[in-house]
Amino acid sequence: MGAEAHRVGPARRLAGEPRVPGDKSISHRALLLNALAEGSARVRGLGLGADVLATERCLRALGVVIEPDGPDGRVVHGVGLHGLREPDDVLDAGNSGTTMRLLCGVLAGQPFFSVLTGDASLRRRPMARVLEPLRAMGAEAWGRAGGQHAPLALRGGPLRALDYALPVASAQLKSALLLAGLQARGTTHLREPAPSRDHTERLLRAQGVALRSEGRDLWLTPPERPLRPVDLVVPGDFSAAAFWLVAACVHPDARITVRDVGINPGRTGLLDVLRAMGARVTLANERWVGGEPVADLTAESSALRGTTVGGDLIPRLLDEVPVLAVAMAVADGPSRITDAAELRVKESDRLQAVAVELGQLGARVVEEPEGLRFAGGDRLRGAAVDSHGDHRLAMALAIAALIATGETWIADAASVAISYPTFWEHLAALAAA
Ligand code: S3P
Repeated sequence: MGAEAHRVGPARRLAGEPRVPGDKSISHRALLLNALAEGSARVRGLGLGADVLATERCLRALGVVIEPDGPDGRVVHGVGLHGLREPDDVLDAGNSGTTMRLLCGVLAGQPFFSVLTGDASLRRRPMARVLEPLRAMGAEAWGRAGGQHAPLALRGGPLRALDYALPVASAQLKSALLLAGLQARGTTHLREPAPSRDHTERLLRAQGVALRSEGRDLWLTPPERPLRPVDLVVPGDFSAAAFWLVAACVHPDARITVRDVGINPGRTGLLDVLRAMGARVTLANERWVGGEPVADLTAESSALRGTTVGGDLIPRLLDEVPVLAVAMAVADGPSRITDAAELRVKESDRLQAVAVELGQLGARVVEEPEGLRFAGGDRLRGAAVDSHGDHRLAMALAIAALIATGETWIADAASVAISYPTFWEHLAALAAA
């Protein structure tokens, strides 16, 4: 990832209909779960950012044949739960926590040795939360720093079912344990501290797996038959659309529509918060695509008021905090985000990075141990800022730059390619309209 800076100036007007990439979370799972099915599946509308390409690369290294099928499609030739082969080199998950954690769950049950690594950011992120329960199921797993960090090594084998209360609301952890549970003997029971996104559960059910959920409890019984391949159209990524929704709300002359966006309730906490802040955001054409709810979203210039966000809402807007912070900085009156310590272990320490970089743009934002506090009503001014190599920070800073006076230079701007390779083109088109 180059450290090249990108210049963003204030936009006089924002208008248009950007097409966001396919949902990143669903794209990873569509490739991975179909790789474990017996038979071939056609997946279209994939979000082919660097993270999803990392999952594809690792699956190929495990012996899965995946063929291109149009610009954002793939045909995945599933090998079944017992058809993966020992990789002859280290598996590189790049910047992608989803790739690394979900693969740990798969590899825990495979009778071979594998090593997983990633870039400097991923090698700093917590992995013991995944390795410890996998060891309790019977896998052998090691990591740097006493099992905390990648590179990780796993030797899989026969697994026992797990009865486990997750210490954090993490869809990556939950998914890893479900994937291990698929290969275990007996029924795995998981309890989440708060609901996290349920894309894995939806896809597994579509593949014929018996999964029962009741509130925060989940029971998975390993299937007696092979997983079914599932043809799928991946909905647009709400977490990508979020940048444009906030951009339209905070800009004085804006109207942006994003079509075909996934509105899984586990993902749309930002909509609830924006509405509570007085945002003009509407949903149209609600329907089902690939087992997920989808809609067309429109946002317009809004008079935003400050608000407080915390508790169970946090996992529902986890990835949207950097851009929500822009809205909170300029909204009328104070705002606060609490219960968000997980943000410290994302692609960057997002609480610290957001506070420092929005501060550079003139926002009065204070970092707290588990959140952020905003004075509100700030006028932003252009400055030199840094994405910290974090795609979502780069994009959030770009949205702030659209309403700042003067020019903003965002260093390490190429990081947007992790989830939204065409982000800078879309931004230019919206601002030129
Ligand atoms: C993801 C889950 C979330 C999110 C990440 C993608 C997933 O992390 O932040 O960008 O695809 O499962 P958690 O594991 O903290 O929920």
